[in-house]
Amino acid sequence: MTLAHGELQSLENIQRESLTNILLEEIRIGIYCLTINRPKVLNALNADTLREMDIALDLLSAASSARVLLVTGAGLKSFVAGADIEHMSRLSPMEGKAFAEEGMRIFRRLETQKIPVIALVNGYALGGGCELAMSCDFILAAENAKFGQPEVNLGITPGFGGSQRLTRLVGRAMAMELLVTGRIITADEALRYGLVNHIYPQQQLMAQGLELAAMIVSKSSSAIHLTKQLVQRGQDLDLDNACVMESDLFGLSFSSDDRREGMKAFLENRPPVFF
Ligand code: CAA
Repeated sequence: MTLAHGELQSLENIQRESLTNILLEEIRIGIYCLTINRPKVLNALNADTLREMDIALDLLSAASSARVLLVTGAGLKSFVAGADIEHMSRLSPMEGKAFAEEGMRIFRRLETQKIPVIALVNGYALGGGCELAMSCDFILAAENAKFGQPEVNLGITPGFGGSQRLTRLVGRAMAMELLVTGRIITADEALRYGLVNHIYPQQQLMAQGLELAAMIVSKSSSAIHLTKQLVQRGQDLDLDNACVMESDLFGLSFSSDDRREGMKAFLENRPPVFF
């Protein structure tokens, strides 16, 4: 499956016209990559970059061929070194709140994409950068990756969900320690705390991300969409209701062409060809 010619053209046109701080590319069939592209400021997120991420998510939703999204930062030094401090230094309290609400909305949009979203953290993931990585379904890190929520050094709190997602990912005690000290941790530490799934040498990060993404592309996309909902929505439910949801979606998955093909292929002792 690929983008139709028209879709590809419109992606290129929109990219040329309105995306200057980020790149969105289909790097393999079905595998898209969103790159925060402000390497001079270590890919810090300002209002324009957030706005462009929103446009990129519009484009992605319209791309019927999209099966996995990789999110990374340009260059070898930084994933995203946080929200743009120069931009924030000029904001009033109400503008600060609006900036946080916009970041929050867009990160939530990223998080609730139907397709799996994988962060490839290729350096600093600080403040808004750590928050961006945590809004992805999971994180692959380069050996030089560094994570932290250093907002206490600036006299502010996290604003794009860091206090909430970090607590859910690493537990209250470790999240509290990292949030109140602003301590920056290595990829090894992040792995120990369950923040990242795997660590690779910097030069192998993209190849490893692609390999994992290709494995996902080979599976049933309809089953993956439902599974993502189960994990994300189930997290905020009590176990009884979460299990009811699982049996409901299990039933729903039986209505798909992929289910017919997957089971038929197993019984015929051949690999499935999903839709
Ligand atoms: N915002 C704006 N510019 C930034 C930036 C940021 N978050 N991080 C780095 N830059 C800029 C620097 O100002 C510098 O620009 P100039 O070359 O024009 O001076 C350039 O990127 C390179 O940075 P450094 O020279 O500082 O590079 P370094 O290797 O010495 O240090 C660093 C790297 C440790 C990441 C350091 O840049 C740093 O501490 N950055 C800020 C990290 C931070 O505090 N992030 C949290 C922001 S608050 C937030 O994100 C709130 C929220 O939750 C939404």
